[in-house]
Amino acid sequence: MSYRITSFDQYKEQYANSVNDPENFWAEIADSFHWKSKWDKTLEWEFETPNVKWFVNGKLNITENCIDRHLGQHRDKTAIIWESNFPDRENIYLSYGELHIEVCQAANALKSMGIGKGDRVCLYMPMIPELAVAVLACARIGAIHSVVFAGFSAQALADRIEDAKCKVVITSDGLFRGNKKVELKKIVDEAVSKCSCIEHILVKKCTYEEVNWNKQTDIWWDDLIPNQATVCPAEEMDSEDPLFILYTSGSTGKPKGVVHTCGGYMVYTAYSFANVFQYDESDIYWCTADIGWITGHSYIIYGPLLNAATTVMFEGVPTWPDGGRFWQIIEKLKVNQFYTAPTAIRALMTCGEEIVIKNDLSSLKVLGTVGEPINHEAWEWYKRVIGENKVPIVDTWWQTETGGIMISGLGSFSPQKATFAGYPLPGIQPCLVDQNGVEIKENGQEGLLCVKFPWPSILRTTYGDHKRCKLTYFSSFKGMYFTGDGARRDMDGMYRIIGRVDDVINVSGHRFGTAEIENAINESEFVVESAVVGYPHEIKGQGIYAYVICDNIPSNYEMARLEILNTVVREIGPIAKPDKIQFVSGLPKTRSGKIMRRILRKVAEGEPDKLGDISTLLDPTVVSEIIKGAL
Ligand code: WT7
Repeated sequence: MSYRITSFDQYKEQYANSVNDPENFWAEIADSFHWKSKWDKTLEWEFETPNVKWFVNGKLNITENCIDRHLGQHRDKTAIIWESNFPDRENIYLSYGELHIEVCQAANALKSMGIGKGDRVCLYMPMIPELAVAVLACARIGAIHSVVFAGFSAQALADRIEDAKCKVVITSDGLFRGNKKVELKKIVDEAVSKCSCIEHILVKKCTYEEVNWNKQTDIWWDDLIPNQATVCPAEEMDSEDPLFILYTSGSTGKPKGVVHTCGGYMVYTAYSFANVFQYDESDIYWCTADIGWITGHSYIIYGPLLNAATTVMFEGVPTWPDGGRFWQIIEKLKVNQFYTAPTAIRALMTCGEEIVIKNDLSSLKVLGTVGEPINHEAWEWYKRVIGENKVPIVDTWWQTETGGIMISGLGSFSPQKATFAGYPLPGIQPCLVDQNGVEIKENGQEGLLCVKFPWPSILRTTYGDHKRCKLTYFSSFKGMYFTGDGARRDMDGMYRIIGRVDDVINVSGHRFGTAEIENAINESEFVVESAVVGYPHEIKGQGIYAYVICDNIPSNYEMARLEILNTVVREIGPIAKPDKIQFVSGLPKTRSGKIMRRILRKVAEGEPDKLGDISTLLDPTVVSEIIKGAL
């Protein structure tokens, strides 16, 4: 690809160009794609509103760039390799030619259900090839996909369906994840019963178990799709038409729908994929994320396919049937680039080295991590045991809102420092500011991480609530996008991400707002009030610590605890279950009624001697009770 950087010197040169003349820089990169008609202005922006437009009036369809464009040279090249949850099942290989047919058929099927440009379609699916096909089928016809991770509860799914007013849900009878089975159709039925917007449920067979069937609304994927025409014209999309919505948690109670648009997202995911992973034409690339998260959108589907890459999609989990699953797959498929999360690395470290070195990992050229700060120990282990000290690690910092990787090494030629994400990609202008928004220009300092200039895949809005987008990201510091993260820039100018500075906790690379979990806990019968904080957790990065005030306690606390856990599973899903629940009689509040989480955090972190000033508390005596009862 013409936009591939091949040395650190070239990186420095490109970086300088991208800052001196961003518009020309991105216009040149955008030129390597297929546009139905060219943009007339590269960038229009203003962070105040915010209003950001890239490749203004350009027309395109991202699926033509992901698939059709490659059919000449790469028709028979494998686009997707699917690895089942079950190690003994055969892989499925989908070539670019086959993917084209499947996407067109699914797109025609959606049309036959009355879906068109601008309509929202919810995908609540296992990690099966049909999920990738469904994503691209939406994009083909200009429908906006909203993928919801298939671990969220019926309530969480219903909230997301309702917020986006989706007309169709695509799901499966059920899914396999390790030795667990989840009845997805049943969850979807429950969710849909709470919504008024769903017209059809399209169901792929996966577990082949019986499901409830509503003849009015439900359609089997396998009945509808194979009969469709194998050609479907790609809808002409404006560069700034929405491509998808992806819900993510913030510091308030309700998850928000981050909106990405067609042109800029395409250019940035393609560019960042090629450069961070240094993908070569015959490489096999594997990202272990779920497509329910942004990592899966940008770096399982769009980024790789835009580069005509071969991308692996894995249905299962790292630790089943045993902790060697990832390493066996790398050997079997001869994976060249491997991209995973620190939490997975930490979990697999506990399985020992024996199970790793049984496998031939010599195909690896680049190792990536994403989702949370990686600790020293995990970085060193990844480097030494998985990379045999020969493979570079790229620690990629980014967010759902940034659409693509922002700060990271590029393959093997960027300097590497354990726990440092490193330098920004070309086109990305990060900066550190202090509490007052004053930029910290010297190196060797810590601050709040912001970005000063738009990049093509910056979020455009939060669905249905532009004000919230402005408030959350563009109002803390004038003229800047605020990330919510704290970071340090060392004397070499390299960035190390410290973690969230807002009321967001990062559990195994998944984001939750403390308020979101509190709202769920407060739904349980015995709970009067609760406060949630994160605390360091050996495997998950952060664990969830809940302080709970109960009323009418049942015969014992154990019952209340179970009730709370069940409620959280019902309201959000198993991934948000608190790791620790401490029952308290009061919470530390200021005179204005604000919970002082700083205190709760210190107690949860096991540092009750470092509470700092507690004189502003309404009732300082609750603190000693909380410290005494700490878990
Ligand atoms: C938050 C974004 C980006 C895809 C996965 C998570 C944290 C992400 C790193 C990293 C340190 C990281 C940040 C960020 N984060 N990558 N390499 N080093 N922290 O996406 O759910 O939108 O979460 O994850 O705190 O703000 P997300």
